[in-house]
Parts: sequence; C-alpha cells; structure tokens
Amino acid sequence: MSLQPGASILIEPATRLLGQITVPGDKSVSHRYAILAALAEGDSCVSGYGPGADCASTLACLRQLGADVRFDARGTLQVPGRGLRGLSAPHAALDAGNSGTTLRLLAGVVAAHPFVATLTGDASLRRRPMRRVVVPLERMGARIETVENRPPLTVHGGDLRGIDVTPEVPSAQVKSAILLAGLQATGTTVVREPASTRDHTELALEAFGVRVTRQGTAIGVQGLQRMSGRNVTVPGDLSSAAFWAVAAAALPGSELIVEGVGLNATRTAVLGVLARAGARVEQTVTDIRHGEPVGRLVVRHERLESFVVTPAEVPLLIDELPALAALAAFGGGMQVTGAAELRAKESDRITALVTGLTALGAAAVELPDGFRLDPGARLTGGRADACGDHRLAMAFAIAALGATGPSEILGAGSVDVSYPGFFDVLRSLRA
Ligand code: S3P
Repeated sequence: MSLQPGASILIEPATRLLGQITVPGDKSVSHRYAILAALAEGDSCVSGYGPGADCASTLACLRQLGADVRFDARGTLQVPGRGLRGLSAPHAALDAGNSGTTLRLLAGVVAAHPFVATLTGDASLRRRPMRRVVVPLERMGARIETVENRPPLTVHGGDLRGIDVTPEVPSAQVKSAILLAGLQATGTTVVREPASTRDHTELALEAFGVRVTRQGTAIGVQGLQRMSGRNVTVPGDLSSAAFWAVAAAALPGSELIVEGVGLNATRTAVLGVLARAGARVEQTVTDIRHGEPVGRLVVRHERLESFVVTPAEVPLLIDELPALAALAAFGGGMQVTGAAELRAKESDRITALVTGLTALGAAAVELPDGFRLDPGARLTGGRADACGDHRLAMAFAIAALGATGPSEILGAGSVDVSYPGFFDVLRSLRA
C-alpha cells in the first residue's frame, strides 16, 4: 500500500500481534555506507540499503555531486568511488528532503571540496538548527552562509585543517559531519562528545579501512587516509523494529520476532526500557557485520508498568521516545525529562506527541524538556495529526491499537521517510 504524503489512515484497535518479520535497512547506517563508498577509491556494493525517502535523498545528493550511484537488478546499490575530495560541484542546490542526517553529514563532506554547494530541504528541515555543524566546520576552514543558522546552507568549501572540538549538543550527526570533514582535512580531528551517541560513523570508517581512535567519548581521525571500495550489508533498522517491539510489549498475548536487525549497543537502550516497563525482551547477536552486531529480537507481552526515562539515557534513545510514548499510552504511563532536543527533530516532537496522544484520549502533559503520560484508562481513539513526522505517524498508529474505538492518523503517508510498507506489515501482524 502506497500512501500520498498527506494521506490519513484509519486504525482499528487490535487484540494482539503475532509474527516473524524483518525490517528495512537501517537509515543511519545506509547514509554512512553510501557517503563513504562515494569517497572511497574503487567500487562498492551496498546490500540492504534503506528503502525510505531519507536514504533516497542522500543518493540524489550524491548523484548531483558526480557519484554515479545506482541500484542493480537485485536491489544492491552500486557505488563507483570518487576518492577523497573527488566529488564535483553540483549544478543546483542539494535537496536533502526531510533528512537532517543527509544535510548535516553532506555539509561535512562538501566543506572539504573546492567549490560552493547549497544544501536545503523541505519545510521541516529548513526549520532545524544548523549552528551545531556550521561552527565547527567554519573552524576547520570552510565558510558557510545560513538563514539565521537554518537551511539553506551555502558551503564555500576548500582546504580544511583538523580540529579538537566538543560539540554543543550530543549528536551523532554533528560528530559525523566533523569526522567526515576531518577525514578530508590535514592533521588530526578529535571530537569530544558531551555524551555518547550512536557510533555508526566510527564503525563504517573502520569498515572502509580508516584508522579511528577512541578514548572514552573522544573520537579521533587522522586526515587524508584513503579508503578503498567495499561490499557491505546494512542491518535491519532497530528504530523501525522498536514500533513492533512496543506493540508486542503492550498487547497481551503478543509475541514478535524480528530477524536480521541491528543490535549495536549505541542503539539498544530502548530495549532496556521495554524490559523495565514489564516486557520480556530477548536479543541474540548472530553476526558481526563490518563491526555492526546483527541478530534476532524477540519481544513478548508480560505486564505493563510505569517507567521513567532519565536525562542521561536520552541521547541513546532519542529516536525511540515517540514509540515509548505509545507504549505508555496503553495505560502504564511514563515520564521523560532532559529531552528538549526532541523539539528540534522532524517536528517539535514534544508538542506534537502530547497533542496527538491527547487527541486519542491520553492524559499527556507537556514539560519544557520532555513529557509525562499519567497512568490510567485505555485510549478512546480519535484523530491525531502526525504533523508530517514519520515517527509520530507510527507512534500514533501503535498507540491507536490499544484504544477502545477507531482512530484516524493524519499525515500517515510520512511513514515513507523511514518505513515504506509500515501499514502493510501492521495488517499482516494482527492476530
Ligand atoms: C542520526 C542521529 C540522530 C537521530 C537521527 C539519525 C544519525 O540525530 O535523531 O534520526 O543517523 O546520525 P542527532 O545526531 O541530531 O541527535
């Protein structure tokens, strides 16, 4: 089933979900493999590349930068490498669509190239903060024009020098933009993270043959290390699987098995919270692919309890907070603080989550840096607006499974950003 971006969908309550599935390729890992392959020498193949619109945005931008990336008949991405600083000047603005990762990582890439490139995106992306990448990239030697620190970003790139920097927010996108620029700079670049974030860039760099140093939360890369083309496979996206994990945790009698899913420890914090909320969660690593643990996830309903997400936990489960809010909406309740960063995502995820869940009948309270759902009765159902945000569309759909009546999710087509086919899978899992 393919939905128009603005389409709405009707969700009927569910008794339980049962099944064994795989999920689309990891969005974060896909962006990184495509970008590094384009900067490598020689050809690369990327299997399992994420099918969502965000990952397609990265490929469209790479093509505009002269990397002839394309899918073969078997759906494997073929990337002829252009070498470090080997991309060419784009003829038009690079459109990252809805994808913050595309825009921020490519800002780090083009900053090291001797041309001018403009990076922009859709209305949501043009509202998102970019000072966090602009300041370090300018320190390295680029010059970047913005519209009050928001896109479009016009990057005047050139010869960069390595820096030692502590980003203003814990952000894997910022860390990655700096490391990608540092890889193409003279000298050494060190990023000292205020708190650990997902480490896919570090692992992907190593997979393509780059030496990366890690000391605590300081990550270093010596510039101008050449990479060679590789054949790599993207694991299933745990952030997509999280919606099914939540549904299985919430609905009595449910059990879901997800095979081939990424189980990188910088992504699995959500599973610990599910266990705290009373679910039975088993994760089994069956393979390490290019440094990325991959395996099986089994989630079963046992009981549902109130849970608290602490500020220290937030950076490693920032994308899963909408899914966890959906779990809490089944009656257990939750609170999260220290998550003001949610306001700078594809939507203001604090206001939009609280508004949408309230519309479905939840007792939800907005906090300056988080939200609270009070324990209580089941949702009634209603009409919730995903505000064009893929993770909110999926969160509201899962929450609606536990309502006493049907719900309408506005803007449901946005699931295509990370998980095309999400509603088909939902239908197939109802038991
Ligand atoms: C991502 C990092 C996170 C996350 C986003 C993907 C990445 O953003 O929210 O969905 O692939 O690096 P921040 O690094 O800005 O927190």
